[in-house]
Amino acid sequence: MSKSIDVTDLNVWYSEFLAVGGVSMHIEPRSVTAFIGPSGCGKSTFLRTLNRMHEVIPGARVGGEVLLDGDDLYGPGVDPVAVRRQIGMVFQRPNPFPTMSIRDNVLAGVKLNNRRIARSDADDLVERSLRGANLWNEVKDRLGKPGAGLSGGQQQRLCIARAIAVSPQVLLMDEPCSALDPISTYAIEELIAKLKTEYTIVIVTHNMQQASRVSDKTAFFNIAGTGKPGTLIEYGETATMFTTPREQATEDYVSGRFG
Ligand SMILES: Nc1ncnc2c1ncn2[C@@H]1O[C@H](COP(=O)(O)OP(=O)(O)OP(=O)(O)O)[C@@H](O)[C@H]1O
Ligand SMILES: [Mg+2]
Repeated sequence: MSKSIDVTDLNVWYSEFLAVGGVSMHIEPRSVTAFIGPSGCGKSTFLRTLNRMHEVIPGARVGGEVLLDGDDLYGPGVDPVAVRRQIGMVFQRPNPFPTMSIRDNVLAGVKLNNRRIARSDADDLVERSLRGANLWNEVKDRLGKPGAGLSGGQQQRLCIARAIAVSPQVLLMDEPCSALDPISTYAIEELIAKLKTEYTIVIVTHNMQQASRVSDKTAFFNIAGTGKPGTLIEYGETATMFTTPREQATEDYVSGRFG
């Protein structure tokens, strides 16, 4: 179910502004890839092109190629909604539907996809997804209670359960732990380690320790200055990126000398 991603010469615009320029990279299935780099260098923008979320912004455009196991995500006739179903996304702020029950939150994506699902199958899916998100034991006795009644870390795991309930092939996470305390962060990191056996995971993080703990590969993005596009400076094995990177800028960034 996990798939590879191949990006070739990607350019990403907001109207006339080229926000990300000339990015090419290969992302392995069943791996965690971390995107790092200073604020404004285009990490979130680039991430959103990987499931066609960028183009929902008026004036936003993408040039270049993104392949999912060889299939062009931007090819003619490709339904962006179908792409987003295959490539799930978890955001910085946990965003469960607040008044919806925990159970219905998990099923929300499945129902949006207009899939009719029998009660017992739904029960199985809810349990499987919540177990997958390491949340089941904490919520199994209150599945009918609103999602808003959970802690921030639990809400984020609920969002992950919602994302995996639709059986995506890729999970994109944009700073999923930045609003969480260290314990919840640890829970999410453990979860990422577990999920990567089944999914291709891409995570944006400002936390260098987190990038080095959870990821197999790291991509460092940077900008040459205000108004300039973000570019991919270096991409490689995480252990190498954090010890002996090729580029001075990477070394400066991972060692905290700028950004
Ligand atoms: N909706 C938008 N319209 C116009 N410009 C945008 C929009 N969203 C982002 N940008 C611009 O695109 C560039 C990249 O922004 P992006 O949010 O991708 O950076 P980032 O690397 O994720 O930063 P951070 O680490 O702060 O989240 C920035 O110059 C930003 O101002
Ligand atoms: Mg961002």
